[in-house]
Amino acid sequence: MKTVTCTAPVNIAVIKYWGKRDTELILPTNDSLSVTLSQDILHSKTTISASKEYTQDRLWLNGKEEDITKNKRMHNCFRETRALRQKMEQADASLEPLSTYNVRVCSENNFPTAAGLASSASGLAALVYTLAQLFDLDVTVSELSRIARQGSGSACRSLFGGFVAWEKGEAKDGSDSMAVQVAPESHWPDLEALVCVVSDAKKGTSSTEGMQHTVQSSPLMQERLNIVPGRMEGMKKAILERDFQTFAELTMRDSNQFHAVCLDTYPPIFYLNDTSRAIIRLVHAYNSTSPDGKLKAAYTYDAGPNAVIYAPKENMREIIQLISHYFPGQDAATYFTDPYNVIADAPLGQD
Ligand code: ADP
Ligand code: DP6
Ligand code: CO
Repeated sequence: MKTVTCTAPVNIAVIKYWGKRDTELILPTNDSLSVTLSQDILHSKTTISASKEYTQDRLWLNGKEEDITKNKRMHNCFRETRALRQKMEQADASLEPLSTYNVRVCSENNFPTAAGLASSASGLAALVYTLAQLFDLDVTVSELSRIARQGSGSACRSLFGGFVAWEKGEAKDGSDSMAVQVAPESHWPDLEALVCVVSDAKKGTSSTEGMQHTVQSSPLMQERLNIVPGRMEGMKKAILERDFQTFAELTMRDSNQFHAVCLDTYPPIFYLNDTSRAIIRLVHAYNSTSPDGKLKAAYTYDAGPNAVIYAPKENMREIIQLISHYFPGQDAATYFTDPYNVIADAPLGQD
C-alpha cells in the first residue's frame, strides 16, 4: 500500500466562470481570472492510498463516506492520472502497478463545504495533485490543471498561486483549456483578501446545476459573453500594473453581473442573502468616504452568500473593524495570496 497527503488552496474569481459549452469535458463559455488564497488558513487536505487489496475506489469527505460510483468528474480525474501512470509502468516493468489498484481518498476542508467558498476548487485540485504524487507522475502543473478542470472547472486555477487566468480554449477536446499564471503572489504583496463567512450552510443550488440552468434560460448571459473578453484584458493589465482602482471596479462589477445573470436565470437563482447585500452597501459607503474618490475595498461573491473583500493592506484593519461593528459574530479573517504546498507520505491511519 502507498499513501500520500497533499493540501491545495481555494481561489476566488474576480472575473467569474459561469457556464459550460461542454459539460462532459468541463469547457467554459468564457475566460475567468482568480486570486489564489493562502492555504495556511483555507485549504482542502487530501490523503490517498492505493492498494491491491482494495476492491473499489472510495471517498470520505469531511469524515463521511460519499457514494462516488456515479461521480463522473471524480472518475475523470482517476482515469486521466491512471492513464499517465500506466504509460510509465509500460516503459519500466520494475514499477509497482499502482495504475491497476483501487484507491481510498480521505479529504477534509477546514472551511464550509459547498457554501460558495470554492471548496470544489481546492477539493478537486487537492485530489489531482495528490494522485499525481501518489503515482509519481512526471508532468507539468499545466497538465495537472487540465486534469483538475475535468473534476471541477474552478479547480484548474487552484494549481497555481497568485493571479491566475483560465483560458477557455478553442479545441473541441479541451486540450487548450487550462489555467495560466498571470503573476505570482509576490507580484502584489500589498493586496489582501478578507473572507467573511455569512453562512456556512450548503447552498441550495450547486454551481454545476446553477450554471447549466443559466446557460439554458438567461438571455442576459449572451450579453455577458460579449463583455467578459474586455474585462479579462482590463483585469490582467490592472494586476500587472498593481492598479487597485481598476482591479476593484472590475471585481465588483463582475460579481454583480454574475449575480444578475443568476437572477435572470428562469426560475431565478438567489445566492446572495440580506447580509451579503448589506456588506455590498457597506463597502460602497466606505468607498464613498474616500476624500480623493479612490476605491478602498472591493467585494466579490461566488455562488453563495459569503463575501470576499479585496483591499490594500493599509485599509484592512479599518475594514475588519467596520465589518465586526456592523456584523458582530461574523467570522471574518484575512488571508493572503500564496502558492501551494505538499505534505507527502503522511499516514492515512487505520482503514
Ligand atoms: P463550492 O462553492 O464550495 O465550490 P460547489 O457546488 O461548486 O460548491 O461544489 C461543492 C462540491 O464539491 C461538494 O458537494 C463535493 O462534491 C465537492 N467537494 C468539495 N470539497 C471537496 C473535497 N475536499 N474533495 C472532493 N470533493 C470535494
Ligand atoms: C461562481 O467550478 O464550482 O465560483 O465546474 O461545475 O464544478 P463546476 O463549477 P465550479 O464553478 C465556480 C463558479 C464560481 C465562479 C468562479 O470560480 O470562477
Ligand atoms: Co465550486
